[in-house]
Amino acid sequence: MKILELKNLTKDFGGLRAVDNLNLSIDDGQILGLIGPNGAGKSTAFNCIAGVYPPSEGDIYFNGEKINNEKPWNLCKKGLARTFQIVKPFSSKSVLYNVMVGSFANKDKRADAEKKSLEILKYLHLEDKKDIRAGNLTIADRKRLEIARALATEPRLLLLDEVMAGLRPTEVDEMVEIIKNLRESGITVFVIEHIMRAIMALSDWIVVIHFGQKIAEGIPETVAADENVIKAYLGEEYGVS
Ligand SMILES: Nc1ncnc2c1ncn2[C@@H]1O[C@H](COP(=O)(O)OP(=O)(O)OP(=O)(O)O)[C@@H](O)[C@H]1O
Ligand SMILES: [Mg+2]
Repeated sequence: MKILELKNLTKDFGGLRAVDNLNLSIDDGQILGLIGPNGAGKSTAFNCIAGVYPPSEGDIYFNGEKINNEKPWNLCKKGLARTFQIVKPFSSKSVLYNVMVGSFANKDKRADAEKKSLEILKYLHLEDKKDIRAGNLTIADRKRLEIARALATEPRLLLLDEVMAGLRPTEVDEMVEIIKNLRESGITVFVIEHIMRAIMALSDWIVVIHFGQKIAEGIPETVAADENVIKAYLGEEYGVS
């Protein structure tokens, strides 16, 4: 069963074609990695899927339903959640408050929202920081909070936009484990990431885009050995022998 399908997705900003006839799909329960150089159109693709921008051309299907012009909050209620590349919590509010805001997407009662939010904080090892102001968190914890806020909406498909940028190697390893566990709990994950070691370890399937167009796709080993990918993105030194 395909949970997400992009058919010729195209997004123009004035004269700039940021996403160009992109076709891809994700099976339920898969982790799909999206990579490509800076400015390749990765975040723009996410923004189209999450309802921030309507596509200029092409179609987006979620669970078989066309969602081209759905608003973000409707998509959220349908089970599609995302994180932002630039994290923007309510800095003066507590960590718990920030997660509860997400939880109210699907829960009406405060007690239920709080219970769910505490479960998620525990899952992300943030439970002991629940009363800290979000603005006072380290980068690593802020990234985890961003995931917690998305998880609080109880998604079936989670879009993660560079949640490992700026993390130390050990923190990256922790994040890889967290994301793998999410998949084990039944959530499908679509992840944009520049840290190759992480995306290679996580993804069942990788799609590579360059100037908005798909230039390669496959299992991590195949993509890492692809000449076009190495030229456009990875650099000679990453090519696997
Ligand atoms: N709202 C916007 N208005 C105009 N141009 C935009 C807008 N958003 C993105 N772009 C442009 O679209 C192109 C794709 O940008 P996008 O942010 O999707 O790339 P990206 O692959 O996510 O890059 P990065 O790896 O640096 O995050 C870039 O040329 C960018 O300048
Ligand atoms: Mg981006």
